[in-house]
Amino acid sequence: MLVWRLFHNRGIPQYLSKHYWWAYLWQPGVWFFDHQPIINLILFGFYRRIVAAVLRQLPAHKPCRMLQIASAYGELLPALQRRLKHSELHLLDVAPVQLRLAQNKVYPGTADPSCHFTQMNSEEIAYRDGSFDIVLIFLLLHELPPEARRRTLEEAVRVLKPGGKLIVAEYGRNRGVHFLHRIAPLRRLLTLLEPFLATYWRDDLTKQVSRASERQHRNPIAFSEEEFFSGFYAVTWYKIV
Ligand SMILES: C[S@@+](CC[C@H](N)C(=O)[O-])C[C@H]1O[C@@H](n2cnc3c(N)ncnc32)[C@H](O)[C@@H]1O
Repeated sequence: MLVWRLFHNRGIPQYLSKHYWWAYLWQPGVWFFDHQPIINLILFGFYRRIVAAVLRQLPAHKPCRMLQIASAYGELLPALQRRLKHSELHLLDVAPVQLRLAQNKVYPGTADPSCHFTQMNSEEIAYRDGSFDIVLIFLLLHELPPEARRRTLEEAVRVLKPGGKLIVAEYGRNRGVHFLHRIAPLRRLLTLLEPFLATYWRDDLTKQVSRASERQHRNPIAFSEEEFFSGFYAVTWYKIV
């Protein structure tokens, strides 16, 4: 039996089991990739700057309810925990091994913010409409096939309160200018490792968020973006009313 089927048979979506089992589901892979230098290397040294840009979008003092859709390696979760005081932080992930890893990163003995971990598929989020002030999607969308990406964005918009903030850390637009976009063998290597990245690049994020909002009878009224590595990565936020 193919290894990925073992994970798929346990309820993990096929695209995740098939293409990313070695990175997110297989215990030795999980151990390896969760080292800060490794994840930083994968992001060409930009991990901390991307996390810092996400943190800048969070309220420093005002309590809030925040949802992070899918776990991420490295120090993102402890950094969120340090930033969000008197708040509620919810993290969902479809992979139990990732939730266990995340739970072990929360500072022991701290209840502020209160952290909640739930096994859930981002395509069908079991929270009520308008549950959160902030929803964060950190480098997940490019790893999803287009249908799963569409459903995840719709769910993200749905669970946001009116006037809530959607923060997306992702690959930036492919304008064909960056050397990693222009040099074909490098681009091919990237899309080999990230099989859904090419489809992500083809569709503008803001248009995707607009379409997801329309389907939820919502409206993105403001957006702002911070780019890194000459636009190769971007942190974008939307106010959804
Ligand atoms: C957020 S993404 C990529 C993170 C990024 N490479 C990093 O670690 O910095 C990886 C996570 O998404 C989760 N994931 C993938 N598809 C999902 C889905 N449909 N629902 C919930 N979690 C999902 C995986 O289990 C994994 O923990």
